[in-house]
Amino acid sequence: MRRKLILDVDTGTDDAVAVMLAALHPGLDLIGCTTVNGNIPVGFCTENTLRVLDHIGRGTIPVHEGLARPLARPDFPVPRHERDHAGRYHPDLLPVPPTALRKQATGAVEFLIETYRAATEPVTLVAVAPLSNIAAALALDPTFVERVPELVIMGGGHEIGNVTPAAEFNIWADPEAAAMVFAAGFRRVTLVPLDATHRALISREHCTLLAALGTPAGRAAADFIGHRIAVHDAHQPQGVPHTTPVHDALAVGALVEPALLTTHRLHVAVETQGALTIGRTVIDTHFRGGQPPNCEVALHADAAGFADLLLRSFAAKA
Ligand code: BDR
Ligand code: CA
Repeated sequence: MRRKLILDVDTGTDDAVAVMLAALHPGLDLIGCTTVNGNIPVGFCTENTLRVLDHIGRGTIPVHEGLARPLARPDFPVPRHERDHAGRYHPDLLPVPPTALRKQATGAVEFLIETYRAATEPVTLVAVAPLSNIAAALALDPTFVERVPELVIMGGGHEIGNVTPAAEFNIWADPEAAAMVFAAGFRRVTLVPLDATHRALISREHCTLLAALGTPAGRAAADFIGHRIAVHDAHQPQGVPHTTPVHDALAVGALVEPALLTTHRLHVAVETQGALTIGRTVIDTHFRGGQPPNCEVALHADAAGFADLLLRSFAAKA
């Protein structure tokens, strides 16, 4: 049976690869995308998500637009560090053709609440963006936390930050929302932080192989990832030259191939106050805090397995 999921995104190049993987993998049934303020303003995230789905022939998957700003903060905490990841035709639009597809009339938070209220089989929620929509759903519907069988989050970092030395973007961009989500008591949470995503680097050689698949998804993935490599080389070079993490796609990949991640059951909380540490995921790797574990935290990932999964998934002619 195909595994149903909803993907919460701020598309963005790595989100775009995650959307393609979720929409095309034969083991997955992407029943909807929700968008949220993050990498870029939410309207562009929505447009990019629609474009990518149309480009790969999956335009029937509904896209619901969500929150335009963080929950508690009056505005987005600038700078938008990944703006350059978005594309080259327009600073915020991905380099795939425009689409006639339009977002759904129902907003993301309402869609999430209604879908989980009505669900008769498990639907995994995969959040690869700031957690504003998820926190809003929790605030509006006290039963939401019990209805979500599994939540997978790309975010946070133990040894690595990317916006500040202490914090990763998705958590830092709406720390109050993230704090609510980690404290909410979801039944099963898998956290895919930078510690895992930075182990699963994709190289220029992989991009050549992806492009050579000759499919819309293969070529688009090569283009998006190639652009990410250029940005990382310029601003945040990786240990291995000319490579990049494709964070969000790893979180989706682990749904179909859990062995891609090595996880540990740990307690995770989010810092919302510290001047130097705001947005940090405090991952209690040595059980110092006395709190019971609330997450499966991935601290390692299988790079070769991840690259192979992308290549296999994007090879199909759809
Ligand atoms: C995360 O931040 C976003 O910019 C990426 O899309 C990813 O979800 C990585 O820190
Ligand atoms: Ca993202």
